[in-house]
Amino acid sequence: MTTFRPRNAPAGDRATRPAKRPRGAFRGLTVPGRGQDAGSVGVVTLKGVCGIVGYVGHRQALDVVLGGLHRMEYRGYDSAGVAVLTGDALTVERRAGRLANLEAAVDTAGREAFAGTAGMGHTRWATHGPPVDRNSHPHRDGTGRVAVVHNGIIENFAALRAELEASGVELSSDTDTETTAHLIARAYAEGDTAGDLPASVRAVCRRLEGAFTLVVTHADQPDHVVAARRSSPLVVGVGEGETFVASDVAAFIEHTRQAVELGQDQLVVITRDGYEVTDFAGEPADAKPFSVDWDLSAAEKGGHEYFMLKEIEEQPDALANTLRGHFSSGRVVLDEQRMSDQDLRDVDKVFVVACGSAYHSGLVAKYAIEHWCRLPVEVELASEFRYRDPVLDRDTLVVAVSQSGETADTLEAVRHAREQKARVLAVCNTNGAQIPRESDAVLYTHAGPEIGVASTKAFLAQVAANYLVGLALAQARGTKYPDEVAREFGELEAMSSAVAKTLGTLEQVRALGKRMADSKAVLFLGRHVGFPVALEGALKLKELAYMHAEGFAAGELKHGPIALIEDDLPVVVVMPSPKGRAVLHSKLVSNISEIQARGARTIVIAEEGDDRVRPFADELVEVPAVPTLLQPLVSTVPLQVLAAEIARSRGYDVDKPRNLAKSVTVE
Ligand code: F6R
Repeated sequence: MTTFRPRNAPAGDRATRPAKRPRGAFRGLTVPGRGQDAGSVGVVTLKGVCGIVGYVGHRQALDVVLGGLHRMEYRGYDSAGVAVLTGDALTVERRAGRLANLEAAVDTAGREAFAGTAGMGHTRWATHGPPVDRNSHPHRDGTGRVAVVHNGIIENFAALRAELEASGVELSSDTDTETTAHLIARAYAEGDTAGDLPASVRAVCRRLEGAFTLVVTHADQPDHVVAARRSSPLVVGVGEGETFVASDVAAFIEHTRQAVELGQDQLVVITRDGYEVTDFAGEPADAKPFSVDWDLSAAEKGGHEYFMLKEIEEQPDALANTLRGHFSSGRVVLDEQRMSDQDLRDVDKVFVVACGSAYHSGLVAKYAIEHWCRLPVEVELASEFRYRDPVLDRDTLVVAVSQSGETADTLEAVRHAREQKARVLAVCNTNGAQIPRESDAVLYTHAGPEIGVASTKAFLAQVAANYLVGLALAQARGTKYPDEVAREFGELEAMSSAVAKTLGTLEQVRALGKRMADSKAVLFLGRHVGFPVALEGALKLKELAYMHAEGFAAGELKHGPIALIEDDLPVVVVMPSPKGRAVLHSKLVSNISEIQARGARTIVIAEEGDDRVRPFADELVEVPAVPTLLQPLVSTVPLQVLAAEIARSRGYDVDKPRNLAKSVTVE
């Protein structure tokens, strides 16, 4: 623990198919609602993934900050730190590793040493410099009077560092963040920003390139905390006699549900009595108040050993909530629609861009959207999309799917698409996140907070939301009659109870997972919509159990991968419906018999009553019979449980797999 004593410092500042509009007749790009972030379109960002929290109020800041960090630890868990304004001093503690290390250090120092009602904290996912104590946040200037916590990457930090070193400043960490502490201290000490912390921070922010959220405290200014943002998340929480800033509302939901979303290039000063927002020039700026519609219990484990297990069980609700309110007066409706129906009619090609599980949700949706809308759909990894010069124009609809709404690869894909004049529709689980902010239309998944790093309920909600996008397109384009759209929607709605029924397999799959814990590798096979499910099952297993896992289109097996089959290799097969997809079902049964003949141990996920496959299954997991296109919503569930249980049996932390963070805001 370090406490810095006061010093003299300067005083202080969404029938018939309607006609297609001729190409040249499109309106300009003045899309209402692009608003304050338009300036950031095209800006390349590389962001770190960290959780930050700041507080000024009537409680002990240490308790509030540590509580907030606990609920943001999913953002990064390489190191953690706190700074509390203790009277006219700044008391700082920081530690590499999990938050528990920091708490132990705080306890060793004695919590009374952190007595104070203003402070901030940080939980880090390392970008610049290894996760060691000296690179942990907060970072301070040479006097220790200024402390900074940061989420993002300051791209011009090398130049700033050289400038500081040339003027005799010694830096004590490998981070980009530390430069800002020294620069803010200098601005606070001299010139027209002297003694004015907000003005000093603004002056420094104007010099920074890249993406950042900064929270800044100064030992001379115990009554306020200053925070600023560019392309990184920052929300204000407004309570009674207390105010918060954080990367995520989860940090303060325990204390208040009244929040304010900060815009691009804005700075906020928080005090006990409220907050004041300006732009980086110091002009008063508008920020968007909103009310958080989920509560703390949604973010807590609710008696489960892991958040992920709780989130798997929450999937029926996640589906119901995602669909709720999206069929009204006989029509599918989106959340924020800054495109006209004509825009949707003009769409002649769809790209789904996303990463990881969100990408798999797009792969599932391709089957439905192409079938319902007769539109070509390409599903692309966001990290590849903009680097291969995709053919985009104003009649292209890009669907950007992201749980967090912060994923850097997806955000950059959105920016690239909009530069090419394509329309972007965001499917996102995080209200007001950067990706929906920069998109032309938004459909929120209402899965609620997903804390486990591996996506489960958000994935199912993404699949459902992507189907809604398909129905909205089919409705606008007239490729489905209104009664057909209504029927499809009704079938989607019924999936909530089908998923609840699927949860009945949980104990069987858990027991299976325990038996599979010593396997070296697992293969996953599927066809049609079962193929992306196989990919998703393999991803879950890799990330949670650190086990080699591969998902294949079952028809591809004979073109190479069958060479992998050896005695006792577990192979998970996602079966299509014997009624809905009889031809595919027969082919897959043949595939299973081929691998079984070569010694594989077959674990088959099949529709209940599927007696044809039974003789070929060493283990049969039965899921409810549902319409073909909706099968992924049930068949994914046992694969999630399987991965979690294998990981648990191997002794791994299911919520926080190694090397990963929940929001991947680095490219
Ligand atoms: C896997 C997982 C990741 C995310 C991916 C995209 O379980 O969670 O693959 O799906 O990082 O994240 P979002 O949806 O936040 O853009």
